[in-house]
Amino acid sequence: MQIIRDIEGLQAVRKGLQGSVGFVPTMGALHHGHLSLIQKARAENDHVIVSIFVNPTQFLPGEDLDKYPRREEADRKICELAGVDILFMPDVSTMYHKDEVKLKAPAYLGYILEGHRRPGHFDGVVQVVMKLFNLTQPTRAYFGKKDAQQLRILQKMAEDFFLPLEIVPVDTVREDDGLALSSRNVYLSDEERQKALSISKSLKRASRLIMAGELNVETIKREMMEMMQAIDVEYVAIVDRDFHPLEKVQIKNTIILVAARVGETRLIDNLWI
Ligand code: PAJ
Repeated sequence: MQIIRDIEGLQAVRKGLQGSVGFVPTMGALHHGHLSLIQKARAENDHVIVSIFVNPTQFLPGEDLDKYPRREEADRKICELAGVDILFMPDVSTMYHKDEVKLKAPAYLGYILEGHRRPGHFDGVVQVVMKLFNLTQPTRAYFGKKDAQQLRILQKMAEDFFLPLEIVPVDTVREDDGLALSSRNVYLSDEERQKALSISKSLKRASRLIMAGELNVETIKREMMEMMQAIDVEYVAIVDRDFHPLEKVQIKNTIILVAARVGETRLIDNLWI
């Protein structure tokens, strides 16, 4: 595995690659969710590039940029064992210039739900992912369904800018008890982690209701909220795949999204129906 930290080095190595390239962008503190993206990329491509970059432009003032977990040594080992060919770990001054040309997330999709709670967050995501795509020129790029809105916005970016690559969605990886894996789970105390379980439990409840024939969105939301009384729910949303709100669940065209604060930690999770 080659570790590259500079632009020129990455571009030179990329030029020499023949065949397909799978790319997995991350912010590090790698867990089994990231690993499943990497494994899929490994299975489907001749070469695999992973990036680790805690992207400052997608954090709002007062968010956890400074305390975001950084575990370079462990991440390096995980990538090595997973058969990654190139690990790109730039620093901030390598990735960003002064007074840059800026991309903006779509006015609707980029500013509802996560984008409403974290205005500008998705602008930072599209800015950095476009840079990373240009550097790595992937055949396929892998993103988790865990970050459903991010995934949809990046699919739109690929469509809108005619990017010659495929965006591949990957299912959410969970702990045995249902908690969706997240780099931010390390912030949770034991007690908070227990409370956080109510998020995935409420999604399971929604899934059972739907399987029993309950399609009314308000009823499903109410039942979900009841299960999350011990945490500070920011939103429960039931939308179609383009993130338009629904009144009735549409089978195979619905995403149920939850964002909640558990103590100081903000968690998101979702379920694709
Ligand atoms: P990060 O939070 O490190 O996530 C990297 C990728 O891993 C994303 O595509 C995310 O959806 C996926 N992922 C996270 N948890 C997962 C889980 N439990 N199961 C499956 N996939 C999971 O998302 C980002 O970084 C950044 O915004 C980035 C795209 C790298 C741009 O900076």
